[in-house]
Amino acid sequence: MGATTAGVRLTPQELAFLAGERVARFATVTPGGAPHLVPVCYAVAGADGAVTAVYIALDEKPKRVAPGALRRVRNLAANPAVALLVDRYDDADWGRLAFLRLDGRADILGPDDAEQAAALALLRTKYPQYRVMALEGCPVIRIAPTTARSWGALEQAAAGADDAPPPRALPFPELVRGRRSVRRFRPDPVPRPLVEELIAAAGWAPSPHGRQPWRFAVVTNPATKEALADAMGATWTEQLALDGQDAETVAARLAGSRRRLLGAPVLIVPCLYLADLDRYPDAARQAAEETMAVQSLGAAVQNLLLAAYDRGLDAGWMCAPLFCPDVVRDTLDLAPALIPQAIITVGYAAQDPQRRGRLPVGALIARYD
Ligand SMILES: Cc1cc2nc3c(=O)[nH]c(=O)nc-3n(C[C@H](O)[C@H](O)[C@H](O)COP(=O)(O)O)c2cc1C
Repeated sequence: MGATTAGVRLTPQELAFLAGERVARFATVTPGGAPHLVPVCYAVAGADGAVTAVYIALDEKPKRVAPGALRRVRNLAANPAVALLVDRYDDADWGRLAFLRLDGRADILGPDDAEQAAALALLRTKYPQYRVMALEGCPVIRIAPTTARSWGALEQAAAGADDAPPPRALPFPELVRGRRSVRRFRPDPVPRPLVEELIAAAGWAPSPHGRQPWRFAVVTNPATKEALADAMGATWTEQLALDGQDAETVAARLAGSRRRLLGAPVLIVPCLYLADLDRYPDAARQAAEETMAVQSLGAAVQNLLLAAYDRGLDAGWMCAPLFCPDVVRDTLDLAPALIPQAIITVGYAAQDPQRRGRLPVGALIARYD
Protein backbone atom coordinates (compact mmCIF):
# COMPACT_ATOMS: atom_id res chain seq x y z
CA MET A 1 0.00 0.00 0.00
CA GLY A 2 2.65 2.57 -0.89
CA ALA A 3 1.17 5.84 0.31
CA THR A 4 3.95 8.22 -0.70
CA THR A 5 2.67 11.42 -2.35
CA ALA A 6 4.12 14.81 -3.13
CA GLY A 7 2.33 15.90 0.03
CA VAL A 8 0.20 18.92 0.69
CA ARG A 9 1.42 22.52 0.73
CA LEU A 10 0.75 24.48 3.92
CA THR A 11 1.22 28.13 4.83
CA PRO A 12 4.05 28.85 7.32
CA GLN A 13 1.37 29.47 9.99
CA GLU A 14 -0.32 26.16 9.26
CA LEU A 15 3.03 24.35 9.32
CA ALA A 16 4.04 25.92 12.64
CA PHE A 17 0.65 25.07 14.16
CA LEU A 18 0.79 21.46 12.96
CA ALA A 19 4.36 20.97 14.15
CA GLY A 20 3.85 22.76 17.47
CA GLU A 21 0.65 21.18 18.82
CA ARG A 22 1.01 18.06 20.94
CA VAL A 23 -2.13 16.02 20.32
CA ALA A 24 -4.45 15.40 17.36
CA ARG A 25 -7.65 13.45 16.70
CA PHE A 26 -7.23 10.72 14.10
CA ALA A 27 -10.25 9.44 12.17
CA THR A 28 -10.56 6.20 10.24
CA VAL A 29 -13.64 4.59 8.70
CA THR A 30 -15.03 1.24 9.85
CA PRO A 31 -15.93 -1.40 7.23
CA GLY A 32 -19.56 -0.46 7.95
CA GLY A 33 -18.85 3.17 6.97
CA ALA A 34 -18.95 4.64 10.49
CA PRO A 35 -16.35 7.18 11.67
CA HIS A 36 -13.85 5.98 14.29
CA LEU A 37 -11.95 8.68 16.21
CA VAL A 38 -8.99 8.48 18.62
CA PRO A 39 -6.60 11.03 20.17
CA VAL A 40 -3.00 10.54 18.99
CA CYS A 41 0.56 11.85 19.38
CA TYR A 42 2.08 12.57 15.99
CA ALA A 43 5.15 13.85 14.14
CA VAL A 44 5.35 15.60 10.80
CA ALA A 45 7.72 15.03 7.86
CA GLY A 46 8.10 17.29 4.86
CA ALA A 47 10.18 19.89 3.11
CA ASP A 48 9.83 23.26 1.39
CA GLY A 49 6.46 24.09 2.90
CA ALA A 50 4.90 20.74 2.04
CA VAL A 51 3.91 17.98 4.46
CA THR A 52 4.61 14.58 2.94
CA ALA A 53 3.75 12.39 5.91
CA VAL A 54 2.37 12.42 9.43
CA TYR A 55 3.43 9.54 11.66
CA ILE A 56 1.61 7.96 14.59
CA ALA A 57 3.32 5.20 16.60
CA LEU A 58 1.34 2.20 17.78
CA ASP A 59 3.34 2.51 20.98
CA GLU A 60 3.31 0.85 24.37
CA LYS A 61 0.85 3.28 26.01
CA PRO A 62 -1.72 1.02 27.74
CA LYS A 63 -3.84 -0.70 25.10
CA ARG A 64 -6.33 -3.50 25.52
CA VAL A 65 -5.30 -5.35 22.36
CA ALA A 66 -2.14 -6.00 20.30
CA PRO A 67 -1.30 -3.17 17.82
CA GLY A 68 -2.33 -5.26 14.79
CA ALA A 69 -5.79 -5.85 16.26
CA LEU A 70 -6.51 -2.18 17.02
CA ARG A 71 -9.70 -1.01 15.37
CA ARG A 72 -7.93 1.85 13.58
CA VAL A 73 -5.46 -0.66 12.03
CA ARG A 74 -8.25 -3.02 10.92
CA ASN A 75 -10.14 -0.03 9.51
CA LEU A 76 -7.11 1.02 7.46
CA ALA A 77 -6.79 -2.45 5.93
CA ALA A 78 -10.35 -2.13 4.63
CA ASN A 79 -10.33 1.58 3.79
CA PRO A 80 -7.20 3.78 3.80
CA ALA A 81 -9.17 7.08 3.91
CA VAL A 82 -8.27 9.05 7.06
CA ALA A 83 -8.46 12.52 8.57
CA LEU A 84 -6.30 14.18 11.23
CA LEU A 85 -7.64 17.13 13.21
CA VAL A 86 -5.28 19.33 15.23
CA ASP A 87 -7.20 21.87 17.26
CA ARG A 88 -6.58 24.43 19.95
CA TYR A 89 -9.15 25.57 22.51
CA ASP A 90 -8.59 28.31 25.09
CA ASP A 91 -11.34 28.93 27.59
CA ALA A 92 -9.80 32.25 28.64
CA ASP A 93 -9.45 33.65 25.11
CA TRP A 94 -11.62 32.58 22.20
CA GLY A 95 -9.42 34.77 20.01
CA ARG A 96 -6.86 31.93 20.14
CA LEU A 97 -9.14 29.15 18.85
CA ALA A 98 -7.85 27.38 15.75
CA PHE A 99 -7.81 24.09 13.88
CA LEU A 100 -6.09 22.41 10.98
CA ARG A 101 -7.49 19.28 9.30
CA LEU A 102 -5.54 17.03 6.97
CA ASP A 103 -7.38 14.50 4.81
CA GLY A 104 -5.54 11.72 3.05
CA ARG A 105 -4.73 8.05 2.97
CA ALA A 106 -2.77 6.00 5.46
CA ASP A 107 -0.87 2.76 5.65
CA ILE A 108 1.18 0.91 8.23
CA LEU A 109 5.00 0.90 8.36
CA GLY A 110 6.51 -2.18 9.98
CA PRO A 111 10.00 -2.63 11.48
CA ASP A 112 11.23 -3.80 8.05
CA ASP A 113 10.35 -0.48 6.39
CA ALA A 114 13.35 1.86 6.30
CA GLU A 115 10.95 4.77 6.86
CA GLN A 116 9.75 3.33 10.20
CA ALA A 117 13.06 4.16 11.93
CA ALA A 118 13.02 7.71 10.56
CA ALA A 119 9.42 8.10 11.75
CA LEU A 120 10.32 6.91 15.25
CA ALA A 121 13.27 9.33 15.32
CA LEU A 122 10.90 12.21 14.51
CA LEU A 123 8.45 11.09 17.20
CA ARG A 124 11.28 10.82 19.75
CA THR A 125 12.50 14.30 18.88
CA LYS A 126 9.05 15.73 19.51
CA TYR A 127 8.04 13.68 22.57
CA PRO A 128 10.68 13.05 25.28
CA GLN A 129 8.37 10.36 26.65
CA TYR A 130 9.11 8.25 23.58
CA ARG A 131 12.85 8.44 24.27
CA VAL A 132 12.48 6.06 27.21
CA MET A 133 10.17 3.58 25.43
CA ALA A 134 11.37 0.54 23.47
CA LEU A 135 9.73 1.39 20.14
CA GLU A 136 11.97 -0.44 17.67
CA GLY A 137 9.46 -3.19 16.76
CA CYS A 138 6.49 -0.89 16.90
CA PRO A 139 4.34 -0.37 13.79
CA VAL A 140 3.81 3.22 12.67
CA ILE A 141 0.78 4.66 10.89
CA ARG A 142 1.88 6.83 7.97
CA ILE A 143 -0.63 9.39 6.77
CA ALA A 144 -0.02 10.77 3.28
CA PRO A 145 -2.09 13.97 3.29
CA THR A 146 -3.81 15.09 0.11
CA THR A 147 -5.77 18.15 1.28
CA ALA A 148 -5.56 20.60 4.19
CA ARG A 149 -8.13 22.94 5.68
CA SER A 150 -7.57 25.38 8.52
CA TRP A 151 -9.41 28.00 10.51
CA GLY A 152 -8.74 30.52 13.26
CA ALA A 153 -5.76 32.14 14.94
CA LEU A 154 -3.15 29.59 13.91
CA GLU A 155 -0.33 32.06 14.36
CA GLN A 156 -0.97 32.68 18.09
CA ALA A 157 1.79 31.08 20.13
CA ALA A 158 0.93 28.78 23.01
CA ALA A 159 0.14 30.67 26.25
CA GLY A 160 3.30 31.66 28.08
CA ALA A 161 5.63 30.53 25.31
CA ASP A 162 6.25 34.06 23.98
CA ASP A 163 8.66 35.13 26.70
CA ALA A 164 10.13 31.75 27.49
CA PRO A 165 13.90 31.86 27.13
CA PRO A 166 15.36 29.35 24.68
CA PRO A 167 17.09 26.22 25.95
CA ARG A 168 20.57 26.95 27.29
CA ALA A 169 22.10 23.82 25.69
CA LEU A 170 25.34 24.27 27.64
CA PRO A 171 28.41 22.05 27.57
CA PHE A 172 28.42 19.81 30.67
CA PRO A 173 30.98 21.77 32.80
CA GLU A 174 28.94 24.96 32.37
CA LEU A 175 25.66 23.15 32.94
CA VAL A 176 26.82 21.62 36.20
CA ARG A 177 28.31 24.89 37.50
CA GLY A 178 25.50 27.04 36.17
CA ARG A 179 22.68 25.17 37.89
CA ARG A 180 21.63 27.32 40.81
CA SER A 181 18.93 27.55 43.47
CA VAL A 182 16.34 30.08 42.39
CA ARG A 183 13.77 31.29 44.91
CA ARG A 184 11.84 33.90 42.86
CA PHE A 185 10.17 33.11 39.54
CA ARG A 186 8.35 34.97 36.83
CA PRO A 187 4.65 34.04 36.60
CA ASP A 188 5.02 32.47 33.11
CA PRO A 189 3.61 28.95 33.04
CA VAL A 190 5.84 26.01 32.20
CA PRO A 191 4.36 23.82 29.43
CA ARG A 192 3.49 20.32 30.59
CA PRO A 193 5.73 18.56 28.02
CA LEU A 194 8.69 20.42 29.50
CA VAL A 195 7.76 19.32 33.04
CA GLU A 196 7.45 15.74 31.80
CA GLU A 197 10.86 16.03 30.16
CA LEU A 198 12.38 16.94 33.55
CA ILE A 199 10.73 13.95 35.21
CA ALA A 200 11.89 11.68 32.37
CA ALA A 201 15.45 12.92 33.06
CA ALA A 202 15.00 12.10 36.76
CA GLY A 203 13.99 8.60 35.70
CA TRP A 204 17.44 7.99 34.22
CA ALA A 205 19.16 8.32 37.61
CA PRO A 206 20.91 5.31 39.12
CA SER A 207 18.78 3.47 41.70
CA PRO A 208 19.10 0.35 43.88
CA HIS A 209 18.52 -2.74 41.67
CA GLY A 210 17.22 -0.29 39.05
CA ARG A 211 13.91 -0.21 40.94
CA GLN A 212 13.43 3.59 40.69
CA PRO A 213 12.06 3.92 44.23
CA TRP A 214 10.56 7.36 43.68
CA ARG A 215 7.52 9.00 42.16
CA PHE A 216 6.80 12.67 41.45
CA ALA A 217 3.66 14.66 42.19
CA VAL A 218 3.24 17.82 40.12
CA VAL A 219 1.22 20.81 41.34
CA THR A 220 0.37 23.77 39.11
CA ASN A 221 -3.12 24.56 40.39
CA PRO A 222 -3.07 27.71 42.59
CA ALA A 223 -5.76 26.31 44.92
CA THR A 224 -3.69 23.17 45.55
CA LYS A 225 -0.58 25.28 46.19
CA GLU A 226 -2.57 27.33 48.73
CA ALA A 227 -3.80 24.16 50.43
CA LEU A 228 -0.23 22.86 50.60
CA ALA A 229 1.11 26.15 52.00
CA ASP A 230 -1.70 26.23 54.62
CA ALA A 231 -1.21 22.63 55.72
CA MET A 232 2.59 22.77 55.88
CA GLY A 233 2.42 26.22 57.49
CA ALA A 234 0.31 24.89 60.37
CA THR A 235 2.85 22.12 61.10
CA TRP A 236 5.80 24.48 60.75
CA THR A 237 4.23 26.98 63.17
CA GLU A 238 4.03 24.24 65.80
CA GLN A 239 7.61 23.12 65.16
CA LEU A 240 9.09 26.65 65.24
CA ALA A 241 7.21 27.38 68.48
CA LEU A 242 8.81 24.23 69.97
CA ASP A 243 12.21 25.73 69.07
CA GLY A 244 11.26 28.81 71.13
CA GLN A 245 11.20 31.20 68.15
CA ASP A 246 9.21 34.41 68.71
CA ALA A 247 5.91 35.00 66.92
CA GLU A 248 7.31 37.72 64.64
CA THR A 249 10.13 35.49 63.36
CA VAL A 250 7.73 32.58 62.88
CA ALA A 251 5.33 34.81 60.90
CA ALA A 252 8.14 36.16 58.68
CA ARG A 253 9.51 32.71 57.89
CA LEU A 254 6.04 31.36 57.15
CA ALA A 255 5.29 34.28 54.83
CA GLY A 256 8.56 33.68 52.95
CA SER A 257 7.84 29.99 52.50
CA ARG A 258 4.27 30.72 51.39
CA ARG A 259 5.48 33.28 48.85
CA ARG A 260 7.89 30.73 47.41
CA LEU A 261 5.19 28.07 47.07
CA LEU A 262 2.56 30.32 45.54
CA GLY A 263 5.04 32.22 43.35
CA ALA A 264 6.49 29.17 41.58
CA PRO A 265 4.62 28.12 38.42
CA VAL A 266 5.28 24.43 39.10
CA LEU A 267 5.88 22.46 42.30
CA ILE A 268 7.33 18.99 41.88
CA VAL A 269 7.13 16.80 44.99
CA PRO A 270 9.60 13.90 44.83
CA CYS A 271 8.32 11.02 46.94
CA LEU A 272 10.04 7.84 48.08
CA TYR A 273 8.28 4.69 46.91
CA LEU A 274 9.75 1.74 48.81
CA ALA A 275 7.30 -1.02 47.88
CA ASP A 276 9.50 -2.50 45.10
CA LEU A 277 12.72 -2.64 47.15
CA ASP A 278 14.28 -5.88 48.40
CA ARG A 279 13.11 -7.06 51.84
CA TYR A 280 15.52 -8.28 54.55
CA PRO A 281 14.74 -10.11 57.81
CA ASP A 282 17.14 -7.89 59.81
CA ALA A 283 16.64 -4.20 60.56
CA ALA A 284 20.22 -3.16 59.63
CA ARG A 285 20.07 -4.37 56.02
CA GLN A 286 16.51 -3.09 55.67
CA ALA A 287 17.66 0.35 56.82
CA ALA A 288 20.58 0.25 54.33
CA GLU A 289 18.15 -0.64 51.54
CA GLU A 290 16.02 2.38 52.41
CA THR A 291 19.06 4.63 52.63
CA MET A 292 19.95 3.54 49.11
CA ALA A 293 16.48 4.63 48.02
CA VAL A 294 17.01 8.06 49.62
CA GLN A 295 20.43 8.38 47.98
CA SER A 296 18.99 7.58 44.59
CA LEU A 297 16.16 10.07 45.11
CA GLY A 298 18.89 12.70 45.48
CA ALA A 299 20.43 11.52 42.21
CA ALA A 300 17.04 11.67 40.49
CA VAL A 301 16.42 15.19 41.75
CA GLN A 302 19.85 16.32 40.57
CA ASN A 303 19.05 14.96 37.09
CA LEU A 304 15.80 16.92 37.21
CA LEU A 305 17.57 20.13 38.30
CA LEU A 306 20.17 19.82 35.54
CA ALA A 307 17.51 19.07 32.93
CA ALA A 308 15.57 22.14 34.09
CA TYR A 309 18.63 24.36 33.79
CA ASP A 310 19.48 22.87 30.41
CA ARG A 311 16.00 23.75 29.14
CA GLY A 312 16.20 27.40 30.20
CA LEU A 313 14.29 26.87 33.45
CA ASP A 314 15.47 27.20 37.03
CA ALA A 315 14.55 25.37 40.18
CA GLY A 316 14.75 25.54 43.98
CA TRP A 317 14.82 22.80 46.59
CA MET A 318 12.56 23.09 49.66
CA CYS A 319 13.05 20.42 52.29
CA ALA A 320 9.85 21.24 54.25
CA PRO A 321 7.91 18.04 53.29
CA LEU A 322 10.60 15.97 54.97
CA PHE A 323 9.33 17.33 58.30
CA CYS A 324 5.64 16.65 57.59
CA PRO A 325 5.37 13.90 54.93
CA ASP A 326 1.93 12.74 56.12
CA VAL A 327 0.53 16.28 55.87
CA VAL A 328 1.82 16.67 52.29
CA ARG A 329 0.58 13.21 51.28
CA ASP A 330 -2.90 13.88 52.68
CA THR A 331 -3.16 17.38 51.20
CA LEU A 332 -2.20 16.13 47.73
CA ASP A 333 -4.31 12.98 48.12
CA LEU A 334 -1.32 10.79 47.24
CA ALA A 335 -1.20 6.99 47.57
CA PRO A 336 -0.30 5.78 51.11
CA ALA A 337 2.90 4.14 49.78
CA LEU A 338 4.38 7.52 48.77
CA ILE A 339 6.58 9.43 51.23
CA PRO A 340 7.04 13.09 50.18
CA GLN A 341 10.68 14.19 50.56
CA ALA A 342 10.89 17.73 49.21
CA ILE A 343 9.31 20.33 46.99
CA ILE A 344 11.19 21.38 43.87
CA THR A 345 9.94 24.76 42.69
CA VAL A 346 10.32 25.18 38.92
CA GLY A 347 9.89 28.16 36.61
CA TYR A 348 11.68 30.95 34.80
CA ALA A 349 13.99 32.93 37.11
CA ALA A 350 12.84 36.45 38.02
CA GLN A 351 16.46 37.44 38.69
CA ASP A 352 19.89 35.86 38.94
CA PRO A 353 20.41 34.64 42.54
CA GLN A 354 23.48 35.10 44.69
CA ARG A 355 25.61 31.97 44.54
CA ARG A 356 27.48 30.33 47.37
CA GLY A 357 31.15 29.60 46.75
CA ARG A 358 32.43 26.06 46.73
CA LEU A 359 35.23 24.28 48.56
CA PRO A 360 38.35 23.76 46.44
CA VAL A 361 38.49 20.26 45.05
CA GLY A 362 41.40 19.39 47.37
CA ALA A 363 39.21 19.98 50.39
CA LEU A 364 36.63 17.51 49.07
CA ILE A 365 39.08 14.66 48.67
CA ALA A 366 39.49 12.81 51.95
CA ARG A 367 42.22 10.49 50.62
CA TYR A 368 43.74 9.79 47.22
CA ASP A 369 46.58 7.31 46.88
C1 LIG B 1 18.47 18.12 50.61
C2 LIG B 1 18.45 19.61 50.35
C3 LIG B 1 17.52 20.38 51.00
C4 LIG B 1 17.44 21.75 50.74
N1 LIG B 1 16.48 22.49 51.35
C5 LIG B 1 16.37 23.81 51.07
C6 LIG B 1 15.32 24.56 51.66
O1 LIG B 1 14.49 24.05 52.40
N2 LIG B 1 15.26 25.87 51.36
C7 LIG B 1 16.14 26.47 50.51
O2 LIG B 1 16.02 27.67 50.27
N3 LIG B 1 17.13 25.77 49.91
C8 LIG B 1 17.26 24.46 50.17
N4 LIG B 1 18.25 23.72 49.58
C9 LIG B 1 19.14 24.38 48.59
C10 LIG B 1 20.51 24.76 49.18
O3 LIG B 1 20.39 25.79 50.13
C11 LIG B 1 21.42 25.19 48.02
O4 LIG B 1 21.59 24.11 47.14
C12 LIG B 1 22.79 25.62 48.52
O5 LIG B 1 22.69 26.79 49.28
C13 LIG B 1 23.76 25.87 47.36
O6 LIG B 1 23.27 26.87 46.48
P1 LIG B 1 23.07 26.54 44.91
O7 LIG B 1 22.04 25.46 44.79
O8 LIG B 1 22.61 27.84 44.30
O9 LIG B 1 24.37 26.08 44.35
C14 LIG B 1 18.34 22.36 49.83
C15 LIG B 1 19.29 21.55 49.17
C16 LIG B 1 19.33 20.19 49.42
C17 LIG B 1 20.31 19.35 48.67
